[in-house]
Amino acid sequence: MTVPSTVLIIGATRGLGLALAREWLQRGWNVIATVRSSRQCELCETAEKSAGRLAIEHLEMTDAAAIAALKQRLSRVELDLLFVNAAIANGPGDRVDRMSTEEFTRIMVTNALSPMRAVEALGPLVRRGGTIAVMSSSLGSVALNETGGWEVYRASKAALNTLMRSYAARHAEDGRGLALVDPGWVRTDMGGSDATLGVEESIPGVVDALAARHGQPGLRYFNYKSETVPW
Ligand SMILES: NC(=O)c1ccc[n+]([C@@H]2O[C@H](COP(=O)([O-])OP(=O)(O)OC[C@H]3O[C@@H](n4cnc5c(N)ncnc54)[C@H](OP(=O)(O)O)[C@@H]3O)[C@@H](O)[C@H]2O)c1
Repeated sequence: MTVPSTVLIIGATRGLGLALAREWLQRGWNVIATVRSSRQCELCETAEKSAGRLAIEHLEMTDAAAIAALKQRLSRVELDLLFVNAAIANGPGDRVDRMSTEEFTRIMVTNALSPMRAVEALGPLVRRGGTIAVMSSSLGSVALNETGGWEVYRASKAALNTLMRSYAARHAEDGRGLALVDPGWVRTDMGGSDATLGVEESIPGVVDALAARHGQPGLRYFNYKSETVPW
């Protein structure tokens, strides 16, 4: 009998994180998924129907002590995959010249510093040959930024990408795969109703693209169609 794989998803209450949890459950994985609050918890309903294969943990990702406490609670768990999904955005009109210092800091701390803290703390729970993945965006690509828009969100994802490159350089020998994932432009609270893709068009592709690279060490930046995204 083969042992099911285990994934930890950070930020799974709604949108792409919720869909990722459901997709891996459907593929027979054990899923540990984090929420900030149990209010209106769709994931809790999924957990009740999962025959114990979905466990819910609580995490406010910007709280470094909470990340350390989660690591402690999961210290006996061996993960095949860590997927850091949580992020925030202000929408397409987000411009650096109109943004307060506090809002700029909130976006950078949530989208760049906090995912890296999660990777640093929880990465060691991933077995050798497993994968540490972080949700990025094609908007994080410096090379593809010809149009502007989403200015600070873009900068936060570009910072995240660069921090992952530094992490990869520091962990070159540790035998884990590293992934920065672009899910496409998807209709969620963040993506909005004009987005070109439904969750059901993005998420199976994201999971397939990760599966295709599972066990390959080194950092890769790719999209839901499994195409490489330029840095
Ligand atoms: N949708 C798109 O078109 C698109 C495109 C490219 C990349 N992405 C990326 O895909 C990921 C998911 O996006 P989405 O569209 O699903 O967004 P979403 O619908 O706004 O969901 C965001 C998720 O992140 C969680 N979260 C936010 N801040 C958090 C924090 N400080 N601590 C813990 N959890 C936090 C939210 O939890 P709460 O429910 O508690 O707020 C929610 O579960 C993000 O990394 C986003 O940047 C999205």
